[in-house]
Amino acid sequence: MDRFVIQGPTPLEGEIAVGGAKNAVLPLMAAALLARGETIVENVPDLVDVRFFMTILEELGARCVLEKSQLTIDTTNQDGCSAPYDLVRKMRASIYVLGPLLAYHGEARVSLPGGCAWGPRPVNLHLDAMQALGAQLDLDEGYIVGKTQGRLIGTRFRFEPVSVGATANVLMAAVLAQGTTDLENCAVEPEITGLAEALVRSGAKIEGIGTTSIRIEGVREIAPLKHRVMADRIEAGTFMAGVAMTTGRVTMTRVDPAHLRSVISVLQDIGCEITEDHDLITVEMDRRPRSVEVVTRPYPGFPTDMQAQIMAVCTLAEGTSYMTDSIYQDRFTHVSELNRLGADIRLDGSKATIIGAGQLQGAPVMATDLRASAALVLAGAAAHGTTLVNRVYHIDRGYEKIEIRLAALGANIRREAY
Ligand code: EPZ
Repeated sequence: MDRFVIQGPTPLEGEIAVGGAKNAVLPLMAAALLARGETIVENVPDLVDVRFFMTILEELGARCVLEKSQLTIDTTNQDGCSAPYDLVRKMRASIYVLGPLLAYHGEARVSLPGGCAWGPRPVNLHLDAMQALGAQLDLDEGYIVGKTQGRLIGTRFRFEPVSVGATANVLMAAVLAQGTTDLENCAVEPEITGLAEALVRSGAKIEGIGTTSIRIEGVREIAPLKHRVMADRIEAGTFMAGVAMTTGRVTMTRVDPAHLRSVISVLQDIGCEITEDHDLITVEMDRRPRSVEVVTRPYPGFPTDMQAQIMAVCTLAEGTSYMTDSIYQDRFTHVSELNRLGADIRLDGSKATIIGAGQLQGAPVMATDLRASAALVLAGAAAHGTTLVNRVYHIDRGYEKIEIRLAALGANIRREAY
């Protein structure tokens, strides 16, 4: 296993190119199953989760090649309908193949995803919506076994609560359904908008893109997708939080500031100077962070995927900050690890109270899930002394070569096997 060895504190200075968005790539990879032929996705980061999804698609008969940020998925010979447990259990997003398999093949056998580091993550909306589209679903030894009588049939469905994954899954399924599907209370994350736009360019008929009400007129077939993935807003936000913690000045390029309005606003409240252009953001910080009160919300609200990173910033703030995760009540595995670095964070259900400390002290900590681990790396760069972040495979799932890129900004960080 690998760990990071980080010596702090070090300011972050320089320029960094933001990679393609993991959470935009994954649904696009599943959407390749809606057509036979060569789907091409540009600006794809070389991440563990992307490589993993390639394995799942290959299990289903596709051929995948990722070279120089271009992902080619050839589904000419796609013939499988089964996504096995030993693959799905490692990545929840594997359930994205359910909709496309039911829509294209009329059958699917997809393992129910397990929980994740911070607790249960249900998939009832995915299943209820597929049944509303006419799929017959049964549970067999932990597998969702789905069959349709011919094509899926257009329907009306409302997501409660808003769900990014379920919106993506059902949108893909409805594209090939017979008739009209009306979806209400859809997620409007940019990654979903990107997916819908890519599907329309391939012949899908979708109205209301970017809004919470989407109407899909089913078609018999679509062409393979050709799409350039948007920048990863969460990766950009993570680097921005790093500057807020360590002070310094960093320009992020190839990023869309419009996707980061809520994060920019919180960082400005914290005391960052932020300037932007159409595809870059510069963050400058030369003071101790100010305390803030943040509640995570579905887009365009403050993203739950930035909760851990901003909490890490708040550990150094003047005064007391409050962080509530309204999306995942228990997404706080980073709290005990941050407290090992000298933070003073108390939990009460889904609300964390963060009493700002003058500084953090380096210590060995354990990465648990992707964003919690990123928060620990940022904290290590700000802490005085040596921080060991163990089990960094969690970070490799969603950040490409993060240690190399942070080192290029001045962080004293290296990867070592242990
Ligand atoms: C996506 O997960 C992201 N993953 C997550 O990012 C992100 O945290 C999450 O959306 C919220 O923004 C990908 O895009 C691959 P949800 P997803 O369905 O789709 C409840 C990361 O760090 N819910 O929007 O699984 C659920 O419990 C990852 O990159 C149901 O009740 O999240 C939660 O409370 C972590 N039933 C809320 O909806 C369902 O069937 C939002 O979850 C589905 C979800």
